[in-house]
Amino acid sequence: MDPSWLMDERAFAGDEHLDPGFVAAYDRKQGTVPDDAAAQDLAILRAHGVGAAATVVDLGAGTGRFVATIAPHVARVIAVDVSTPMLERLQQRLDAMDLTARVEVVRSGMLRYAHRGGPADAVHCRNVLHQLPDAFKVVALDRIARMLAPGGVLRLRDLVYDTTPDRLADHLEAWFATAVADPAVGYTADDLATHVRTEHSTFTWLLEPMLERTGFEIVDRVVHRGAYAAYTCVRRPSGP
Ligand SMILES: C[S@@+](CC[C@H](N)C(=O)[O-])C[C@H]1O[C@@H](n2cnc3c(N)ncnc32)[C@H](O)[C@@H]1O
Repeated sequence: MDPSWLMDERAFAGDEHLDPGFVAAYDRKQGTVPDDAAAQDLAILRAHGVGAAATVVDLGAGTGRFVATIAPHVARVIAVDVSTPMLERLQQRLDAMDLTARVEVVRSGMLRYAHRGGPADAVHCRNVLHQLPDAFKVVALDRIARMLAPGGVLRLRDLVYDTTPDRLADHLEAWFATAVADPAVGYTADDLATHVRTEHSTFTWLLEPMLERTGFEIVDRVVHRGAYAAYTCVRRPSGP
């Protein structure tokens, strides 16, 4: 049974992610086909020794863009998401690519996902952590560290504020100015403002200590436009 203090992950999952109409249009809205970021994440994990015998967990797997990229290259992939429409789309993708037998699909929030079997060699989590308020981000990162083998890798991408408090307003306006006009092919300035108002992106100078306090060493950090962060983190042998 869940502890009384544990948040309702579906309630914080983003209404659009639970909406079959939004999910049907999701891949096009993400913009990049093929998914360059997924290909880059695969290359980074492989450079960290994630190979044919590896177990990889994708938390908040969405429509399965990363899962489909990595599944041919590792032994075990577990795709976790709280949204039924997202997982239905993911399953269609796996069926179309003949990858169904290579992927375990789990409908669960990342705070509740119970990892079974040997420890994971890598966890991937792209554009999901911001769904959680900061205290629960720490709970999620602690859980990720505990499901990883010592030396295991977390590849984390998320929307962040890489700025100082006094510059936040200008920073956000500059970010919104880079948005697209057509909501079908990307995120508009309105979409981004809604993100800031209703979701839980945080400052990089808060997120990075969260990673460190939960047992990760940040070995690589890239922040694009001050808003799109990609971290490669290695679980310290001493753990969380
Ligand atoms: C912006 S999408 C990203 C999907 C995918 N990672 C990608 O890069 O395309 C966010 C995903 O996180 C899922 N999600 C939201 N909150 C979650 C939670 N607490 N646990 C697991 N998945 C969650 C949503 O259902 C959605 O599929």
